[in-house]
Amino acid sequence: MLFHDEVITADGPHSTPEGRVLHLHRGGTSVVIDLDAAPNPAIVHWGEELTDSTEQTLRSLAVAARPQRVSGGLDETARATLVASPAGGWLGTPGLEGHRDGASFSVRLELVGVEVDEHRALLSLVDREARLAAQLELSVGTAGLLHQRITLRNSGDSPYTLQHLHLAFPVPWDATEILDTTGRHLRERSPQRHPFGFGTYLRESRRGRPGADATLVLAAGRPGFGFERGRVHAVHVAWSGNHRLVAERTVSGEAILAGGELFAPGEVVLAPGATLTSPEVIGSWGDGLSELAHRFHDEWRRRPAHPRRDRPVTLNTWEAVYFDHSLDRLTALADAAASVGVERFVLDDGWFTGRRDDTAGLGDWYVDPTVWPDGLHPLVDHVVARGMEFGLWVEPEMVNPDSDLARRHPDWILRARTTLPPSARQQQVLDLAHDEAYAFIAGRLHALLDEYPIAYLKWDHNRDLLDAGSGPGGVARVREHTLALYRLLDELKAAHPGLEIESCASGGARVDLGILARTDRIWTSDNLDPLERLVNQRYTALVVPPEMMGMHLTSPVVHSTGRTVDLDLSAAVALFGHVGIEWDLTTTDETTRRRIAAWVEYAKRIRPLVATGRTVDVDGTEPGIDVRGVVAQDGSSAVFTLTQTDTTASYPPGRVRIPGLDPGRRYRISVVGGPTGTAGQSELAWQTHDTTLTGRELDAVSLRPPVQYPQRSTVIELVAQT
Ligand code: DGJ
Repeated sequence: MLFHDEVITADGPHSTPEGRVLHLHRGGTSVVIDLDAAPNPAIVHWGEELTDSTEQTLRSLAVAARPQRVSGGLDETARATLVASPAGGWLGTPGLEGHRDGASFSVRLELVGVEVDEHRALLSLVDREARLAAQLELSVGTAGLLHQRITLRNSGDSPYTLQHLHLAFPVPWDATEILDTTGRHLRERSPQRHPFGFGTYLRESRRGRPGADATLVLAAGRPGFGFERGRVHAVHVAWSGNHRLVAERTVSGEAILAGGELFAPGEVVLAPGATLTSPEVIGSWGDGLSELAHRFHDEWRRRPAHPRRDRPVTLNTWEAVYFDHSLDRLTALADAAASVGVERFVLDDGWFTGRRDDTAGLGDWYVDPTVWPDGLHPLVDHVVARGMEFGLWVEPEMVNPDSDLARRHPDWILRARTTLPPSARQQQVLDLAHDEAYAFIAGRLHALLDEYPIAYLKWDHNRDLLDAGSGPGGVARVREHTLALYRLLDELKAAHPGLEIESCASGGARVDLGILARTDRIWTSDNLDPLERLVNQRYTALVVPPEMMGMHLTSPVVHSTGRTVDLDLSAAVALFGHVGIEWDLTTTDETTRRRIAAWVEYAKRIRPLVATGRTVDVDGTEPGIDVRGVVAQDGSSAVFTLTQTDTTASYPPGRVRIPGLDPGRRYRISVVGGPTGTAGQSELAWQTHDTTLTGRELDAVSLRPPVQYPQRSTVIELVAQT
């Protein structure tokens, strides 16, 4: 325990006469914390790693951040400390709010102890009057993410109702533009930008899951920041239940991003001695959004649990057959899948008792004997015999009122009143925090996993949790439900080694690093339209590494948008993720299958690059052209797509940049797939001549993209010459 006047760095404590400053740094990030800020510490720098981190520099940074007293204000101007509160003078959103049966509302946590190891600090905070103690953990990860997590303890002798708890991340004062995402079913993660003015900008999720409209990050940066340039900071809440993210700019000259769980009234009441640990709130920053995203990708990939083997090319049956299950139809689909090189065949919704459409059956997780008289064995055997893994769709947290489960155990359904919450897709939510409900669901899943060689569960979650209580007049349950879900996922993974799980929620309505800590990929969206996917995938990849994002080839007429799309476009857009197919391949002719097989083969060839490389999103290309790629970490190779989303104003289009390569190396450029011209045009010169350019030249001046019809994509490869 260190608690003296000192500067503490990752290398150990350093005493100084002026005060106590803590420096954590790793992966290109420095975090400097003024331990003497009142009433608890304040981060005075979060961003670029300091090259000069002498005691004098750190101390000066702390001093430089101290505000003056001003007329009309407090005698000591309040700071945006780590857990700021009105009792410490803070008039913005408090970091912590609660009470004891309506009293003892005031909170003022003060620092009483500091423990530091290499990249982590554990700050002990206490409010003796409010009888609260907290341990706030700050750590800088391998790629420079700043992680914060707090554990709060009720050290009083009466229950403490916790109303609000968030963790604050200061951002530079010149970060005056906000970026976040919104969306809906079939259009998740649409970006939106706003000026970051005075006041509070609040994004909340009250859906019991992040939701299609949730923002994956709340970002603030210098106006006009893009993917390639412009300093930007962002915060993500690694939690799959209700949460809030706040961007706040005060007239006292502080700008913060903050995030935490969102509690329903009375949801968290800490008994005497009880503790609550918050989800991790994770901050990233970069010169441009790509650098910010790379910190997430790099750190996430270094986890021991990260899926490392080649991502199996998947065929998911949903859009191919919907509820029309029959052994003949599905074995024919499996044959077609195997013929194009699919490695994992996933049987989607419709296989269990009573599930002939989406009005009934959820909860009855037994194979429907009317459709599958011999169980799923004949299908599974068929799939496995063709060299593919078998995957199965489940939606374990849900129940249809029209199910044996709901008829037998109506008390297992989440509700807060005598009437059920508003219905969605004719279904309700099971109370997983109910021991018997949990045991039943866990038991059914274990039984299925024991009976069949299931390599993969597609874990769906098709409705919001509304009015989610433990029963009429009961307590709010989102938090307990979310923790029970995490427990169940962990339990299944431990009991069935090698099992992979996908987080799906009507597509991408449950995308967060809480769920991704215990699953292997997300279903990015039910919208398979490649043009819409370009946006969705780019903004999902702000946090999620591409190989954890399910990206499937669509059938020629997209089911969700009705647009007719080109196969090469669909394949090119799916390349930079976990590739799959969502299409009734039994309806395709030989030529189409050969084309699909060629794309599948190519996807397999570049998947090691996709799973380890750096994503590149190019800013400022001509409207109508989208340029993006993946570059090997060592700069030896790269794959880019040049996608014509619309007609361009210039004809032929002007040169597009290909950044992100090693500036000093020379690359040979070749076209791998997609068109390189339209009818009546001459050939593309750099394709017919042996063209090599250095990474520097590719970034600075680069090359003419091919003339294409709108809604086409060309895939190019760049290989460094030795
Ligand atoms: C929603 C998912 O996003 C779809 O892919 C599919 O699994 C359906 N649910 C099945 O009901």
